[in-house]
Amino acid sequence: MKEQLKSIEERAREAVSAVTDLKALDELRVKLLGKKGELTAILKQMGKLSAEERPAMGQLANQVRSQLETMISDKTKALQEAAQNARLAAETIDITMPAKKPETGHLHPLKIVENEIREIFLGMGFSIADGPEVEYDYYNFEALNLPPDHPARDTQDTFYITDNILLRTQTSSVQVHVMETQKPPIRVISPGRVYRSDAVDATHSPLFHQVEGLVIDKGITMADLKGTLELLMQRLYGDDCKIRLRPHHFPFTEPSAEVDVMCFNCHGAGCRMCKNEGYIELLGAGMVHPWVLENSGIDSSVYSGFAFGLGLERIVMRRYQISDMRLLFENDVRFLEQFR
Ligand code: DAH
Repeated sequence: MKEQLKSIEERAREAVSAVTDLKALDELRVKLLGKKGELTAILKQMGKLSAEERPAMGQLANQVRSQLETMISDKTKALQEAAQNARLAAETIDITMPAKKPETGHLHPLKIVENEIREIFLGMGFSIADGPEVEYDYYNFEALNLPPDHPARDTQDTFYITDNILLRTQTSSVQVHVMETQKPPIRVISPGRVYRSDAVDATHSPLFHQVEGLVIDKGITMADLKGTLELLMQRLYGDDCKIRLRPHHFPFTEPSAEVDVMCFNCHGAGCRMCKNEGYIELLGAGMVHPWVLENSGIDSSVYSGFAFGLGLERIVMRRYQISDMRLLFENDVRFLEQFR
C-alpha cells in the first residue's frame, strides 16, 4: 500500500506537469482525488490493515492527498496566469502609434472676408438684408432708374431667364426690396452673389460677390458716406488707410462716386501694383437718387441717403495678394489650405 501511495504521487507529479490546459487539469484532479479516483480506491483498502499499521498508513495517505492538492492548485494558478498573460499580449494597443487626424473643413477666403465685413458693419449698427438671386427686371434695373432702353444696361451683360426675369447683375436690387418693406431710418448691408455674362479671365467671372450698403435717414450727407467707407477700409487694411472719391455716374445715385483705396503696397506713392496711381479702385457709391427714394415710397424732401456696392473678390484679392480671380472659384484644396 505504501508503494501504491508513492507511485500515485510520482505519476501525479509527472501528469500534472505535462498538462497544458485547465480542462485537462480538472479531469486529472477527478481521476486522482475524486470519489471514484485512484486515491479513494487505495484508501478503501485501509480496512484490511491491522490496527498497528493503520495510523501510520493513514498519515501517509493524508500527506499524499495534500501533496496532490497542492500540486494541482499550484498548476491551476500557473495555467491561469499564463492564460491571462497571453490575453494581455494579444490585446495590446500600441499607444505610441500616430492617431488618424479627422479632416475638418474651414472657411473659404471669400467667406472669411465677408464675415469680417459683416462684423464691421454690425458694429456700426447696420443689419443684414437678403434678396433673391433670380430677380425681376424691375428690382435689378427699372426701380433703380434704369428703364428698358437705358444705355447703361449694356454695361452689365445679363443672364435672362425670361424677358422679365434674370439673374441679378448687382446687389443694388436689394435696396429696392428693403425700401419697400422698411421705414427710415434704414441701415443695412447685403452681401451676396451676382451674375454677369462675362468671359472668365484673371479679373472676371460670370459669378462674383458684392456687398451692398444702404443708409437712409434725415440729414444724411456725402460726409457720412465717406466716413463710413473710410472706417470700413481702415478696419480691413489698417488705421493709416485713406480713401479717395472720384466723380462718376450711376443711374441710381446723384452725385455718384467711384471710391479708391490707398495702395497699401506703396502707401500712395505709386508703384507697379497700383499702376503708379497710389490708389486702387474698389467700389461704387453715391447719394441715393431722389427718384429712387420716391419710387419706393420714401419722401425725398424729408429723407436722404447714401448707398454703395463693393466687389468682394477685389477686396479678398488685395487682402491676400491673389493675382488671379479664378483661384477663388476653382476650389483647389492645395490653394484653399492656406486660409485655414
Ligand atoms: N451696383 C453697382 C455696380 O454693380 C455698384 C454701386 C454703385 C452700388 C453705386 C451702389 C451705388 O449702391 O450707390 O457696379
